[in-house]
Amino acid sequence: LVRIVDAGIKAPSGKNAQTTEFIIVDDRDIIYGIALIAGKPFIKTARAVIACVVRPEPVYHGLSFEAEDCAASVENMLLAITALGYSSVWIDGNIRLDGKAAKIGSLLRIPPPRYVRVILPLGVPSETQTQAEKKPTRERAFFNSYGGDENHGKRL
Ligand SMILES: Cc1cc2nc3c(=O)[nH]c(=O)nc-3n(C[C@H](O)[C@H](O)[C@H](O)COP(=O)(O)O)c2cc1C
Repeated sequence: LVRIVDAGIKAPSGKNAQTTEFIIVDDRDIIYGIALIAGKPFIKTARAVIACVVRPEPVYHGLSFEAEDCAASVENMLLAITALGYSSVWIDGNIRLDGKAAKIGSLLRIPPPRYVRVILPLGVPSETQTQAEKKPTRERAFFNSYGGDENHGKRL
């Protein structure tokens, strides 16, 4: 778990402000509580939940980057989780509804203005799942201008 969180800590952040903090939840009762608040029964069987806590903080011309900083850490952790043979899912939209993030924040005693932005339940997968299908690269990436470089014949 610490190796996974270390991967999140190493992620880049705007102005290196490091606005994301992490709570490693391995206590069964707290995991159960998070599952109840999120309304996701599968979380009950997770071996741990990593809660990503963000801190809004203007660091560059009044701009805050807490969402981007957190996303970079989350992706690093998902890669580490997968590389170590575990499985997870990025839970974000779900906890932004119905005050769930605030309830999880109270459960984990998070001091405002910090708040929980993402939770990553993780464990050993009971079954293998293939990643959701992606559009072909040529439909989403182009050389030199949107749609492709007609003049130079460069197309993916
Ligand atoms: C910003 C973001 C928010 C997400 N929120 C949720 C969520 O609240 N609940 C959930 O089950 N999955 C959530 N996901 C997972 C996506 O549904 C999933 O990554 C997507 O369907 C693509 O599938 P893949 O991860 O297999 O490529 C979220 C992913 C991202 C990047």
